[in-house]
Amino acid sequence: MTRYAQIVGWGMYVPSKVLTNDDLAGMVDTSDNWIRERTGIVERRIAAPNETTATMAIRAAQAALQVANADPARLDLIIVATATPDYLFPATACLVQDALGATRAGAFDLSAGCTGFVYGLVVGSQMIISGAYNQVLVIGAETLSRIINWTDRNTCVLFGDGAGAVLLQASDVPGGVLSAVLGADGSGGDLLVLPAGGSRHPASVETVAQNMHYIHMNGPEVFRFATQVTARAARQALAEAGLHLEDISLFISHQANGRIIQSAAKSLKLPPEKVFVNLDRYGNTSSASVPIALCEAIEQGRVKRGDYLVMVGFGAGLTWAAVVVKWGVPLPVSRPLRRIVVWRWVRYRWATIRSYLRRLGWKILAALRGLFIGDSSSG
Ligand code: ACO
Repeated sequence: MTRYAQIVGWGMYVPSKVLTNDDLAGMVDTSDNWIRERTGIVERRIAAPNETTATMAIRAAQAALQVANADPARLDLIIVATATPDYLFPATACLVQDALGATRAGAFDLSAGCTGFVYGLVVGSQMIISGAYNQVLVIGAETLSRIINWTDRNTCVLFGDGAGAVLLQASDVPGGVLSAVLGADGSGGDLLVLPAGGSRHPASVETVAQNMHYIHMNGPEVFRFATQVTARAARQALAEAGLHLEDISLFISHQANGRIIQSAAKSLKLPPEKVFVNLDRYGNTSSASVPIALCEAIEQGRVKRGDYLVMVGFGAGLTWAAVVVKWGVPLPVSRPLRRIVVWRWVRYRWATIRSYLRRLGWKILAALRGLFIGDSSSG
């Protein structure tokens, strides 16, 4: 029997702190007018000091599981696409796995810049279509505010924080993720780079002094690259699915710059009502932008069963990716019963307690082993 990977749950989380263009004009030499005209961005969200990529990913994941009424203990795999993980290791996906109590799930991070979520959709859906797994959670989450040079007007006006998640589930109903295009051109890696903190330039007093732990970007070149690949990747994904431009119900592109989206829409001959834009309120949230846009499109009633959605990402690497999704879930979904919400709350509290006990267990075991080894060496 043919298997399909349907999106059955979705959720998003953005921090409550809003940073407007006028706020930025008080920090660097810029203006609301310049930012609106050149990017389409009006405001963005900034994580609170106690928020991280993992905490936002967990909130988005919980929302997605709630929509699907899915049990975290039945998840097979968690993929977190991010360029701003909590740590280089362990993977942010493992922090999410622990917090959700997804005791059966494998978990890994995926690094493909702003394209990460669409790459993750492709990997997750293929895991399902191949028969390996039944339920895969794909998350895009970023805390870009922590790697922005807030004195560099070329970059600080562009980015924001947030997270979005979808739950992919095996189904025998035709639809879901129908086709995929993945691309990379590492020769353009220097155009968008976080130079230090890896094995090439480990953190040092010099790397900090030279601002090497911040985003460095050649904006105009990245812009040119993005305008070239976005429409091309969308066309390829459509052709692979046996579909045509007229079949597109909604085009959800990575939200980096309104002019990039308009240029792709023009090339694909799409009217404004078939193009989703929310970067005015969130800026570029990198790998979180496509799932956040999908959630808001659903919320606004712009997605219905049977629709063909085209999602495209592009970004650091350089990378690009596109998928065609035939939407399979009737909308709107009904609100979950109160007792289910309460039960899920209990489950997440239990996951927190379980995690605490297991961490304590590791410490006690390590101490006991230390004692034992100490005893045997002295003996
Ligand atoms: N306010 C005022 N002026 C500015 C600002 C600002 N915030 N930023 C740049 N300028 C100035 C420049 O200094 C330059 O001045 P100059 O001519 O005196 O030197 C002038 O504006 C024009 O600069 P450009 O860089 O040519 O401006 P452009 O119209 O190309 O817009 C932008 C810049 C918005 C960055 C655009 O190039 C862009 O959106 N690029 C793509 C960025 C992107 O998508 N990056 C993310 C990819 S995804 C990922 O993986 C993270």
